[in-house]
Amino acid sequence: MKAKLRFAAPSAGIGDLLVILAVNHSRSREKNAPGEPVLLTSDTVVLRAAESVLKSGEFKAESCETLLLHAPQGMPAKRLLLIGMGKLAKITVQDVRKAAGTAIRFAKPRGIREVIVTLPEDVAWTMGASTRAVVEGAHVGDFDPDTYRSDRKDQAVQWLIVNAPAVEKLTPEVKDEIDNAFRVGMVVGEAQNFTRSLVNEPGNTLTPTEMGKRAAAMCKLQGLACEVYSTEKIKELKMGAFWSVAQGSAEPPALIVMTYEPEEVQPDAPVLGLVGKGITFDTGGISIKPSDGMEKMKYDMAGGAAMIGAMQAIAQLHPKVKVIGIVCAAENMPGGKAQKPGDVQVAMSGKTIEIINTDAEGRLVLADGLAYAKQLGATHLIDAATLTGACVVALGHIQAGVFSNDETIYRHFQDALEISGERFWRLPLDEEYREMIVSQIADIMNTGGRWGGAITAAMFLKEFVGETPWIHLDIAGTAWVEDQKPWIAKGPSGIAMRSILEWVHSYDGVALPPTEAQPLS
Ligand code: BES
Ligand code: MN
Ligand code: ZN
Repeated sequence: MKAKLRFAAPSAGIGDLLVILAVNHSRSREKNAPGEPVLLTSDTVVLRAAESVLKSGEFKAESCETLLLHAPQGMPAKRLLLIGMGKLAKITVQDVRKAAGTAIRFAKPRGIREVIVTLPEDVAWTMGASTRAVVEGAHVGDFDPDTYRSDRKDQAVQWLIVNAPAVEKLTPEVKDEIDNAFRVGMVVGEAQNFTRSLVNEPGNTLTPTEMGKRAAAMCKLQGLACEVYSTEKIKELKMGAFWSVAQGSAEPPALIVMTYEPEEVQPDAPVLGLVGKGITFDTGGISIKPSDGMEKMKYDMAGGAAMIGAMQAIAQLHPKVKVIGIVCAAENMPGGKAQKPGDVQVAMSGKTIEIINTDAEGRLVLADGLAYAKQLGATHLIDAATLTGACVVALGHIQAGVFSNDETIYRHFQDALEISGERFWRLPLDEEYREMIVSQIADIMNTGGRWGGAITAAMFLKEFVGETPWIHLDIAGTAWVEDQKPWIAKGPSGIAMRSILEWVHSYDGVALPPTEAQPLS
């Protein structure tokens, strides 16, 4: 999507669709008193054009509610679209994301090619925050997973115009803030959709080798160092856990290593290691999955895709911290050479693993990926993986799981969530859970039985990070949007990429422009 930023009165906007955000506001102090729709603009021409429809009661400005007016009076724009964000007392900047996504998804099927979204006035967060929310939210709305459809509609919206109302409040500093936020929002929005496009690819096109090629192409374009290794190097590095998953497939695995090195770093600065699960298709292996819904297992590389997307954004935003991105890509297949339940594997770290279930393959590839990140010098680790069905049982499709062995690194991640707007819920890592993965024949088993499956999977990973501060993200329930929403299509969500990016920036000293926080004077 192309986008431009304009400083002008909303009603001066020339284009196919002018979007104004609205809230439901109740003047009465009574709880649940019915409110009225209020437009978040001071533009009198817009207010006048919408006056009678607002009075009519047919638009309540509920979350994602839309109302379209053709040929709005006194304006050059062809259409005026009001989008509700819900109760004024409850809205956050994340509602602006949704509204912007809703605007784009409203426009696309109608063949509307130019959408002007006006930043809301009089809200409890900054103009910069609104700008990022509009640009990023519009990108989220713009993605459709119809890549291989002959009648694909993915290119329908050509222009997003972010309209920063030219109110007197806009000092040069605020203009700069909006400008900068617009630039960052574009980078983040594009990276998230790049992530989603990778996740959307079927297993027959996005093989581990192809995933490596796409990562390498991105790195080349962005000026990042990239190395893609295969079988030989994986064996040479003694990545027995990673290889054990790959050995059952005719497709060779790919160990993708992307490196971002800033121009200047302090000698004792942290080195961040990003490790993603890149199972390009998960049949379960010999412990084969039921065929019902197995087609979905093409998205088992969503964690890896999030890392590739994050590296793209990092390359463009250049934080002052070194970042190593690792993706362990393999196909989990039940071929003649596949590993079997009962096999014992030796991981790169030297730990021995009894394979109980070949379908618990994500933790195997990550075990060696995490160890390798440490070997390459990572001082802080974050991994993302569609790791367990148990996490989906625990949290459903709303929140993703987060685990950590260190409070400081976790605080950085929590701050990142404030900005990204993504939702993660922390799950525990008590030592007692470790007993569940102790093996009779080897150091540990790759599954821990029926209960607490997301936790025992995380405990397994913990064995390979040692004392290094570490965050583990289980995105099994959130990497795929099961039901479309007004602001996002059904399909890959791109979850975790934005939070990982903000987390990286939290080590930079210079934070990205905020999306939450200080009210405008
Ligand atoms: N990729 C799956 C986890 C998954 C499940 C992702 C549902 C998305 C939706 C993972 O490799 C897996 O199969 N995990 C097993 C582990 C079990 C055998 C201990 C699971 O969760 O069933
Ligand atoms: Mn599996
Ligand atoms: Zn899997």
